[in-house]
Amino acid sequence: MMDITCIFMSILMIVADGFIVHGPSGPVIAPLGSSVVLPCYVDELLLMEGLEVEWRRTDSEALVHLYQDGESRPEAQQQEYHDRANFFTDQIHHGNFSLRLDNLRAEDEGRYTCRVYSQQDSGETVVQIKHERLLVSGSDQSVSAYDGEDVTLSCSVDSHITPEHIEVSWIRTDGDIPVLLFQNNEPLPDSSDEQYRDRVEFFTAEIPKGNFSLRLKSVRTEDKGVYMCLVFAGDLSANATAELEQLGVSSWHIAVLFFCFAAGFGAVLLLCCLIYCRSKNTVTSSMIRNLQVSLVFYPNI
Ligand SMILES: *[C@@H]1O[C@H](CO)[C@@H](O)[C@H](O)[C@H]1NC(C)=O
Ligand SMILES: *[C@@H]1O[C@H](CO)[C@@H](O)[C@H](O)[C@H]1NC(C)=O
Ligand SMILES: *[C@@H]1O[C@H](CO)[C@@H](O)[C@H](O)[C@H]1NC(C)=O
Repeated sequence: MMDITCIFMSILMIVADGFIVHGPSGPVIAPLGSSVVLPCYVDELLLMEGLEVEWRRTDSEALVHLYQDGESRPEAQQQEYHDRANFFTDQIHHGNFSLRLDNLRAEDEGRYTCRVYSQQDSGETVVQIKHERLLVSGSDQSVSAYDGEDVTLSCSVDSHITPEHIEVSWIRTDGDIPVLLFQNNEPLPDSSDEQYRDRVEFFTAEIPKGNFSLRLKSVRTEDKGVYMCLVFAGDLSANATAELEQLGVSSWHIAVLFFCFAAGFGAVLLLCCLIYCRSKNTVTSSMIRNLQVSLVFYPNI
């Protein structure tokens, strides 16, 4: 009977000591170079004795900050977080294990796990860091196309903001002609100027990756010009340009022209030959007939 009570009591104690580790509801976003606070806390008051808290990168398990035996242990920290990752020392006994990371770098972007160990229990939460940015890139080279071909004008967006909250406007810079708009997470083909209507589209499957490249179908001579991909997100905006060069007729057209020319030249040659042969009267009449027949058909090839 004594044993059962004892076991029951210890179970009660374990439950009483159980805790939940809380983190932020969404990603923590800050500009490069700034300081960010990664929230991590428990509601219950924990015994300081035997308390251990560790912050690690979720992907590499690199140790960002360790609190053990009542103090921070900077010697255990991964080099790149040295002097940059700190606890709020006065907050620890309130169960607040939030981490301040200074001088935010691009490579800090990612997920971090805060693990709390007490004598009886442990728990963890994950915090994601994103750095604030809106970078738009096009292609360095101009795009060349022949009449009637399809072309792709590049526009890639790198941002902490997801595509559904991004607005993209493709315009022709000479005359500010609207080419195609992406707004409220969908392309708006009706926004296109008449000259581009039904000839422009985004690569829908590429948009979640921030690829807002534009497909322009059956290029015409008057499409030649500079195009701009204008991107808006919150109060940020950025742009990139793409130049479309027109090369006129295609090699296929040239090939057709060449064959027409060759056919014409051949016909003239054949005619000359025929006249020559007749004047010399050295060929049989059947051969002459063959030549005459081929002369009739040859230009038609
Ligand atoms: C934890 O401490 C930090 C720094 O003082 C503070 O900003 C944050 O609000 C605290 N979190 C909680 C849950 O008390
Ligand atoms: C965007 O998508 C198009 C079409 O799939 C592709 O050709 C282009 O390379 C992509 N651009 C980038 C930067 O991934
Ligand atoms: C495009 O971006 C440049 C800076 O990269 C800026 O100076 C220019 O005003 C922008 N153009 C438009 C139309 O927003």
